[in-house]
Amino acid sequence: MSRATQVAKLADREKTAGRLLKSSADKFYDPDIDIDWDAEIPADLHFHPEHRISLHGTELWERLTPQQRIELGKHEIASIASTGIFFEVLLMQMLLKQVYKHDPTTDHVHYLLAEIADECRHSTMFGKACKRFGVPAYGPRRWVKQLAKVLPVIGRGPSAYAAILVAEEVLDRMQRENMSDPALQPLIRMVNRIHVLEEARHVTFARQEVVQGMAKAGWLARHYHRLLTAFVSYFVALSLINPEVYRAVGLDPRQAWKAAKNNPHFQETIRYWGERIMKFLDEADLVGGPGMALWRRSMLLPA
Ligand SMILES: [Fe+2]
Ligand SMILES: [Fe+2]
Repeated sequence: MSRATQVAKLADREKTAGRLLKSSADKFYDPDIDIDWDAEIPADLHFHPEHRISLHGTELWERLTPQQRIELGKHEIASIASTGIFFEVLLMQMLLKQVYKHDPTTDHVHYLLAEIADECRHSTMFGKACKRFGVPAYGPRRWVKQLAKVLPVIGRGPSAYAAILVAEEVLDRMQRENMSDPALQPLIRMVNRIHVLEEARHVTFARQEVVQGMAKAGWLARHYHRLLTAFVSYFVALSLINPEVYRAVGLDPRQAWKAAKNNPHFQETIRYWGERIMKFLDEADLVGGPGMALWRRSMLLPA
């Protein structure tokens, strides 16, 4: 890349960072103040839309009572929110490494710090929601957590941001639907609304990093980024529901998780949640090569 192009790219980055910083100052929420954690939790309202629950439409689903269906939705949303915390913590580690490397007088670094502050509040908010509903913060399975420790070490450039984008945009797609669903708990809708509003700038920032990073990546780097993106996305999709959630309604975790993975409704839900990010990743040339086997198993690919 020529010196002039490099300077132009840095100027671009500063401009976006400046704009996003303004949005961070205008629109931010403090979960301690902006959410009434003591508000009543109506017994008849859902925590997660019925048609998005992993077993919806299966034989196991038919055997659940209406109250058990609400209960399963509560545990599934706790699993998704706590998996969200897990990815936010990984993202914060990667962002902090960037802060360490770059000039702290730039808007770029100030924006990175603002995004870390956003994610700190989000993780607190998701943790408080699990606590308020009296459900475990399941998070991903233990071996996935162990394996993921390597991500902040090896993750850099476009695939690091792409991997995080998959988690952010999958959650975003789900939350946009949930925040305006009158059949859901008001507390759930508020948590979703706050997250959607603040994540919009994270998505803008990460998408720009992916596009610029891929534009300057050589042949080998492009292949590396494609494979790493496929690998992490597979774990994002398959970590949303921790099979332990099924115990809450008396089901065997292994049997129920197998039924969920084979459930066309759940496959369609994952595809729907991933629709927007998959289009972007495809346009950024990050979907292809040997990672396709993982993409197919992730259920994220368009039908
Ligand atoms: Fe977040
Ligand atoms: Fe985020």
